[in-house]
Amino acid sequence: MGFDIENMVVKNETTALDSFLEQVYRDTGYDFREYKRGTLTRRLERRFRATGVKTYLDYIEFLDAHPEEYQKLADDLTIKVSGSFRSPYTFQQVTRLVLPELMSFKRNQEGRRLKFWSIACARGEEPYSIAILLAEFLGNRQQHFNISIYATDISRQALQEAQAGIYSSKDIESLTPTVLENYFTRYDKGYVVNSNIKQMVNFSYFDLTSTIRQPFMDVDCIFCCNALIYLQKALQERVLGMLYDSLAAPGYLVLGEVETLTNNLNGKLECLDARTKIYKKNGGDNV
Ligand SMILES: C[S@@+](CC[C@H](N)C(=O)[O-])C[C@H]1O[C@@H](n2cnc3c(N)ncnc32)[C@H](O)[C@@H]1O
Repeated sequence: MGFDIENMVVKNETTALDSFLEQVYRDTGYDFREYKRGTLTRRLERRFRATGVKTYLDYIEFLDAHPEEYQKLADDLTIKVSGSFRSPYTFQQVTRLVLPELMSFKRNQEGRRLKFWSIACARGEEPYSIAILLAEFLGNRQQHFNISIYATDISRQALQEAQAGIYSSKDIESLTPTVLENYFTRYDKGYVVNSNIKQMVNFSYFDLTSTIRQPFMDVDCIFCCNALIYLQKALQERVLGMLYDSLAAPGYLVLGEVETLTNNLNGKLECLDARTKIYKKNGGDNV
C-alpha cells in the first residue's frame, strides 16, 4: 500500500484552515467557518501576499501583532460586487409578479405597512434600487403606504458608504438618464441619492450567519441575492430557514439568479419565476 502524500497535504491544509477560522471566530466573532473553501483560500492568499506571510500560523501571529488587520481580513473575505438594478430582469419580474399582488393585499390592511429587506446590501445599490422601483411603481400612491426598506450587511465600511449614497458615474452607468435625473443629484465627480429615496432605507449591521435570531419579522419581501453562493449548503439551509420565518404571509423571497432554494424549504414556498428565483410564502386573506 502506497503512502498517499497528496491526500495528506490537502488534509493538513484543510485542518490548518479550519483551526485558523476557529481562531478568527473566537477572537472576533466573524464566522467564516461554513463559507465555501475555494473562495476563502483565494481571498486569504491575497492577505498573505499583502502582509508578506506564508503560513496560517505566521498570519495568526501577524494578526496578534496588528489587530487592525482583522478588519482588512473580513473585508477581503466578503465580496462586495454589486450594481444598481444589478439583474434588470429580476426587478422587471418583481414589478410584474410581486408588486401588484402585494399592493392589492396591503390596500385592505390597517396601517398599510410595507416592509422590504435587502440582506447583504453591499454599498446600498440593491436597497436604493428597491426604493426607486417602489417610487416608480407607486407614484402618487406612495403617500398612502408606510414603507421601510431594511438594508443589512456584515461590512461596516460598505454600510457607511451605503448610508452616504454617493456613487461614481461608473457605478451608476447602467441607470437611464431619466432615473438619474429623478432620483440622484450631481455631487463632486459622481452622484448622490436624493433624500426622498434615502429616507426609505434603514441601514444596519447584521451578520447572516447568526441565524438563531431574526432581526425583522413580518417582512413582505426579502432580497437575498448573491450572498448564499459563498456559503456551504448547511449554512445556506439555516439562513433560508431564518428568512422563511422572517417573511409575512403572503411574503416574497428573491434570490440571485444563480442561487437555489435548499431542501428544507421544498414545498413551503411557491416558485413564481424559476429564472429570476422569485418565491412566495402563501397565506393571509385575499391572496
Ligand atoms: C456580492 S455582494 C451582493 C450584493 C447585493 N445583494 C447584490 O446582489 O448585488 C455580497 C455581500 O454579502 C455580504 N456578506 C458576506 N458575508 C456576510 C454575512 N455573514 N453577513 C452579512 N453580509 C455578508 C458582503 O459584505 C457583500 O456586501
